[in-house]
Amino acid sequence: MAVDIEQINPRNEAALRAWWQVGHDATADRPGKPWPLWEQSRVSLHAPNPERDVTLLAAIDGREMVGAGMAILPSRDNLHLAGSAVYVDVARRRQGIGSALLAEVEVLAAGHGRTTLTGEAYLPPGGTAPAEAFAAARGFAVASRESIKELTLADYRERRAALTVDPSGHRIVTFDTVCPDEHVESFGRLLGMLLSEIPLGDLDLEDSEWSVERIRDAEQRQVATGRHVHTALAVAPDGEVAGVSDVRVDDTDHEHAQVGITIVDPAHRGHRLGLALKLATHDLALAAYPGLLTLDTSNAEVNTHMNAVNDALGYRTIETLLELQKKL
Ligand SMILES: CC(C)(COP(=O)(O)OP(=O)(O)OC[C@H]1O[C@@H](n2cnc3c(N)ncnc32)[C@H](O)[C@@H]1OP(=O)(O)O)[C@@H](O)C(=O)NCCC(=O)NCCS
Repeated sequence: MAVDIEQINPRNEAALRAWWQVGHDATADRPGKPWPLWEQSRVSLHAPNPERDVTLLAAIDGREMVGAGMAILPSRDNLHLAGSAVYVDVARRRQGIGSALLAEVEVLAAGHGRTTLTGEAYLPPGGTAPAEAFAAARGFAVASRESIKELTLADYRERRAALTVDPSGHRIVTFDTVCPDEHVESFGRLLGMLLSEIPLGDLDLEDSEWSVERIRDAEQRQVATGRHVHTALAVAPDGEVAGVSDVRVDDTDHEHAQVGITIVDPAHRGHRLGLALKLATHDLALAAYPGLLTLDTSNAEVNTHMNAVNDALGYRTIETLLELQKKL
């Protein structure tokens, strides 16, 4: 293997484009929308983000980029973690290039004092993909299994009329990306519960605190990169935010949307708020983007309540996601 592993300057657009292309081609056999459009990546990959430092790596053979890697170092919380991703040109696999990229990610992570490395592998349901054997060979364990699900708008329209819920006294409030002032503090309290309430398997994640300032910063980064986070809140009679769900759409692609987070406060469960919130965001997305074709979401296979809601909406499993973890 005669390749050099180099860091990419994301402001060098030619290098960034080559990096994006390697990832695009290495994921082209996956269903759904596995890779962002170039128009989105060219803006979001170098947008400053105080939540995390991202380092892009390339495997270079002569003048050709044959592999791409990424190290993600959270900088506000979970300072023991580093995220990893590696992609290798199909024609250059099994030559140790993926391992060389990953080794560089590990050096970076360890250099910043990180002790747990995470990664992801996407498999056809019931099948496998090179990433599964690669991860096992490189010492990762499977911390959680998730299903990636896709909803076609045709399926949603067919089911929509039969799905009605009475959110039992809760008000559904919707907004595009920027939370109304009167709810933002309570919204932050709910966001703080997210990691402890979502089934994460053995993933070594710690809760984080969401101050108003942190929420406002995150919103402005979404605005600056052309991403609309269409959000629905369930507001209890006492004004407390009891649940949230969102659907994200990039300005560069009005045909595919992604469900971001969904959570209902344990004290407010059992009123079908999960379904009510998802109906609100899905209806909003349909109204805002008449050309919308699909939405996708992912959740742990053991998350029975969320799976039941997604099944009712018409979501179908298209991939299995392995959440991987390795102690450094
Ligand atoms: C996963 C991926 C990065 C591996 O890259 P690679 O350069 O082929 O990996 P390496 O040559 O370093 O493989 C290291 C070891 O992993 C295992 N491995 C990798 N691919 C394998 C495969 N298809 N079948 C069985 N074992 C495999 C082997 O043990 C291999 O060692 P060996 O060749 O000496 O037997 C590459 O297949 C890829 O780009 N896949 C698509 C993107 C992706 O899924 N990335 C990972 C998630 S971010």
